[in-house]
Amino acid sequence: MSEILLKGIGIRKYFPIRGGVSGRTLGYVHAVDDVNITIYKGETIGVVGESGCGKTTLGRVVLDLIDPTTGALFYKPNESEMSQLEQLYSELTSGGARELKKEEKKILNTTKDNIYKSRRKKKDFRSRVQIVFQDPVSSLDPRMLIKDVIFEPIKINGIPVEGEDDNGKQKRVRLRGDAATKYILDIVTEMGLNEDHLFRFPHEFSGGQRQRIAIARAIAVKPEFIVLDEPTSALDVSVQAQILSLLKNLQQKYNVAYMFITHNLAVIRAVSTRVIVMYLGKIVEEALTDELFEYPIHPYTQALISAIPVPDPNFKRSRIVLSGDVPSPANPPSGCRFHTRCRFAKEICSTEEPKLKEIRTGHVVACHFAEDILKTESERTGIKKISEIAI
Ligand SMILES: Nc1ncnc2c1ncn2[C@@H]1O[C@H](COP(=O)(O)OP(=O)(O)OP(=O)(O)O)[C@@H](O)[C@H]1O
Ligand SMILES: [Mg+2]
Repeated sequence: MSEILLKGIGIRKYFPIRGGVSGRTLGYVHAVDDVNITIYKGETIGVVGESGCGKTTLGRVVLDLIDPTTGALFYKPNESEMSQLEQLYSELTSGGARELKKEEKKILNTTKDNIYKSRRKKKDFRSRVQIVFQDPVSSLDPRMLIKDVIFEPIKINGIPVEGEDDNGKQKRVRLRGDAATKYILDIVTEMGLNEDHLFRFPHEFSGGQRQRIAIARAIAVKPEFIVLDEPTSALDVSVQAQILSLLKNLQQKYNVAYMFITHNLAVIRAVSTRVIVMYLGKIVEEALTDELFEYPIHPYTQALISAIPVPDPNFKRSRIVLSGDVPSPANPPSGCRFHTRCRFAKEICSTEEPKLKEIRTGHVVACHFAEDILKTESERTGIKKISEIAI
């Protein structure tokens, strides 16, 4: 495997629910609950799941845009550091997932502080990562000309050049005047835009063009990692395909890693190297993309895959319909969070939370009956056929 860029362990993000006149805390939304995640250099990790399952929150935590309630985030960790922390983490949570005690929280949060020893280091990390949102209308300042929209992050962060300083901080140069103009022009040309686009405002563009601008803005500072939060969900299918191919080309050229967040499995399949499936704040399945589509094991993943539209009128599908709504993340079901909607659920599922375990090489699943499902479902036809169709 290639070099680790980012590693998050034991990440939880609970948002307080306030109510009453006093605004006191009535409970917590468990937006992300005990997630371990690794992001490798230059890869695309797909994050998929229904609305509200915590995808955006996870993306914001790994970019250090919001602090996790517990958990630690490491940027290019060294191996000894990692094994110590993983050990500590598994000890802390060995009794199954639960609320951490105050002193345990402190340990995880202190280790986080140790990694981000200084504000300098934090700033260096922030200049190496970027985010692109679903809706570029609200993420681009309507009063700024496109040239300024793209120049803003360059002005703040500079452009990285070869090498790091003694503290491991990336060396960056600040561009001004003609050099800056030429640099911006090169970037927008690469995005399929041209010079006179630079002197227009965001509202003068189509959705697809606006998304190209948002991507130009992110890629201009040559980041190592970009979180793409539903970047193509608001676009029509042909424009979506163009943006996906642009993103692929940029990744090859700049060796940037993506976290691609979407609820669209067909898109995930087309772009990702690896996929994480989330349900109510938890990872329920994780595998390399081909493996996941060939052998979806978690009943939730199977249902999502069976719902992918198939462009073949002769193909008879066996679609798995999920009953009921997603339960509230403020009050998640006991045991396995998916048991209320699961077609395989048995008694144990409502009492005991399944841990993620490796069922096939590199393929982890959180389900009490993962092995049985894999065995009995290996003859399944519907799901397999759907996964064989090129998208
Ligand atoms: N700032 C916040 N304050 C309170 N609750 C929040 C906040 N941000 C997110 N949440 C809640 O956390 C849960 C997860 O939200 P999140 O936006 O991460 O989901 P998502 O998977 O990105 O959904 P979608 O597909 O709709 O974008 C939701 O129940 C949401 O209401
Ligand atoms: Mg979201």
